[in-house]
Order: sequence, then C-alpha cells, then structure tokens
Amino acid sequence: MRQDSFWDSLRQLKQEGKLLAFGASVESVDEALDCLEIDGLSSLQIIFNVFRQNPIAELFEKAEMKKVSIIVRLPLASGLLSGKMTSGTHFAAEDHRSFNRDGQAFDVGETFAGLPFERGLELVEQLREFVPAGWSMADWALRWCLDFPEITTVIPGASCREQAKSNSRASDLTPLSKEAHEALANFYKNAVAAHIRGKV
Ligand SMILES: NC(=O)c1ccc[n+]([C@@H]2O[C@H](COP(=O)([O-])OP(=O)(O)OC[C@H]3O[C@@H](n4cnc5c(N)ncnc54)[C@H](OP(=O)(O)O)[C@@H]3O)[C@@H](O)[C@H]2O)c1
Repeated sequence: MRQDSFWDSLRQLKQEGKLLAFGASVESVDEALDCLEIDGLSSLQIIFNVFRQNPIAELFEKAEMKKVSIIVRLPLASGLLSGKMTSGTHFAAEDHRSFNRDGQAFDVGETFAGLPFERGLELVEQLREFVPAGWSMADWALRWCLDFPEITTVIPGASCREQAKSNSRASDLTPLSKEAHEALANFYKNAVAAHIRGKV
C-alpha cells in the first residue's frame, strides 16, 4: 500500500500540473487509515452502505481532519439495497454476484457488501419499513450515504439508463431524520455487523 516511490511519482506529476489530484481505492478501513498517511492524497474510495457502517466510527473524523474526501462505491450493496432481488434472482455467469458470491475470485466483501446472499435478502425485508413513502429503496439507500457530510459522492453502478437517471435524483431528496439514522445505526450493530465477511 505505502510504496513511497509510487506516491512520489504522483506527487511529482501533481507538482508539474499534469495531475490535478490523486486518490486511492481501498477495501478495508485499515487500508483507508494507512492511506490517510500519504502526503498529498485528495480522496479515498471506500465501500460504504447501510450494511457496511463501520467507516463512520473508524474513519470519517480522521479523513475530515486530513481534508481527504470520501467517494462511496457499492452504495447499493451490489443491488441488494434496491430491494428488487429475491432468492430466485439470476445473475449471469460473468457477473461477480454469480462467480464471487462467496469470495471465490476476490475479496468476499466486494460482493453484496460481504453478506451471504440469503441473509442479505432477509435483512432487506426488515429494512423496508424505513423507506419513506413514494421513494424507491435505492433512493433511500443512496440518500442515507449522502446524509453524512464526510461523503463527497456516491458511485452506484447502473446496468441501464433508467437506473443511472433515477440514482442521480438522490442528491435532491430530503435528508433522513436523526431518528432514522439512529435506528439504522442500531440495526447495523444488532442485526448486520456479525454477518459481514471479508475485509471491513
Ligand atoms: N475501484 C474499485 O476497486 C471498484 C471495485 C468495485 C466496484 N467499483 C465501482 O463501484 C461502482 C459500484 O459498484 P457495483 O455496481 O458493483 O455496486 P452497487 O452500486 O452497490 O450496485 C449496483 C447494482 O445495483 C442495481 N441498481 C443500481 N441502481 C438501481 C436502481 N435505481 N434501481 C434498481 N436497481 C439498481 C444494478 O443491479 P442490476 O444490474 O442487477 O440491475 C446495479 O448493477 C461501480 O461504478 C464500479 O465500477 C470500483
């Protein structure tokens, strides 16, 4: 992670005006904390969503102190948090949700946020009551991420134009209430955290 010559090259390119900024994409909070020590780093791309809340306590304050912005990948836990999946949902063979479901190809935490698929489906059912009337579950899951001031942006994957379009609406939605955030923090602690596999 901390190969100094690599970061030296990026700092040099920045100094020469060939780069505006550089950042790092990481899997675990430990890797993120390690990267915060890199001089000149502007952004960190992390895994963060309703099912992966550990960065709130372990990373956010430190990133803010270093003025490093946070980019969220997997905000929908590979689509689980769209609420549309069932145990019968089929994924193509070349889709990581098929070939890496249990970490067969790369870190298991990159797929379904590290949850076993069936457990993820059960948890999604318990979350439906939190989704405000008139919102899709994807709207709600993206808004939850954006409510944290430390988050600069989310980069949900989209497999069609409609998804990309509807996901872009999340910035204009009303922030969730303090009570909703507290309830979801408890939900994560009590029902989710113990089931997450892989690097966190
Ligand atoms: N830098 C890295 O190391 C790294 C690693 C992994 C991912 N990424 C990036 O992170 C981003 C997100 O990754 P991801 O796509 O795996 O996870 P994600 O954003 O959690 O989930 C995206 C999936 O959710 C579903 N979806 C998205 N919007 C929806 C909507 N409005 N309604 C219903 N379903 C919706 C789609 O599934 P369906 O296809 O089933 O419809 C889509 O493929 C991507 O841009 C990816 O390139 C980066």
